[in-house]
Amino acid sequence: MANNKEARILIYNDTHNSSVYGLWHPNFIDKTGLKRSDMNPVMKTIWGYWKDDFVPRVKKWKPTHIWLPGDLIDGPNKFHQGKYLVTPDLNDQAENFLMCARMLPEAEIEGVAGSDYHNSSFFDAHQYIIEELGGNFNVFDFVVEILGHVFHVSHGRSFPLVQVEQNLAREVTFNAISSYQKKYPEVEVIIIGHWHIWREIRGPFGPKKDWRVIVSPCWQGQDEYMKMRSPLRMVPDVGATFLTVTEEKVIVDRVLYPTPVVVNKPRKLL
Ligand SMILES: [Fe+2]
Ligand SMILES: [Fe+2]
Repeated sequence: MANNKEARILIYNDTHNSSVYGLWHPNFIDKTGLKRSDMNPVMKTIWGYWKDDFVPRVKKWKPTHIWLPGDLIDGPNKFHQGKYLVTPDLNDQAENFLMCARMLPEAEIEGVAGSDYHNSSFFDAHQYIIEELGGNFNVFDFVVEILGHVFHVSHGRSFPLVQVEQNLAREVTFNAISSYQKKYPEVEVIIIGHWHIWREIRGPFGPKKDWRVIVSPCWQGQDEYMKMRSPLRMVPDVGATFLTVTEEKVIVDRVLYPTPVVVNKPRKLL
């Protein structure tokens, strides 16, 4: 008899709640009683995608699992003294993220922190979020098996956003070596966030399976860091990743929304 077991895994990350370019729930009232509902055009666009399309879409899809690979809040934003934050209060940032996350249906949740702001309060805030959602907090990464497929999930590593596919393929090589040395399980699907883009590369893992490296997109427009580093190169992809897993295969799908406009036309001087 055919086994029709199936897992539906929703992955979303890099929401950067409280960044003035990120996800923000406008009904939020902070701990002083101040309603922080003002939003700029980028925030309004991201919020519109979340509320009007993403939430209904996920409700219809009914995930069995939700994985959150980090950068869920923007943290202290210390490079700019918090200049590009709605609030620097990490607890308020976390509460705002939770308001957004609770709009989605319940599922088994796994999460990690991000890598951008290596301070303990940023990690603590992520732990608080994942545990408030009833999920399992893994700090840096986790390796899980679902219906015979092994997944490795982490926030991601920094390297220049050039030759992306080459950099991702290296991760497969690294795992080939670490699993050969029996230091790590052999991973079929590697999932990261952090890059704020959507990518998937794949190749043969065996006669019936493919290895994959998936970069799950973000929920933030082009932020101050990207504008400073390389405004023409660092243009984010906004959306989320959907995995359907059966014993036979892993099917990868994604939703992408138009990136909030950075510059829509040149300013004519002459
Ligand atoms: Fe990020
Ligand atoms: Fe990051």
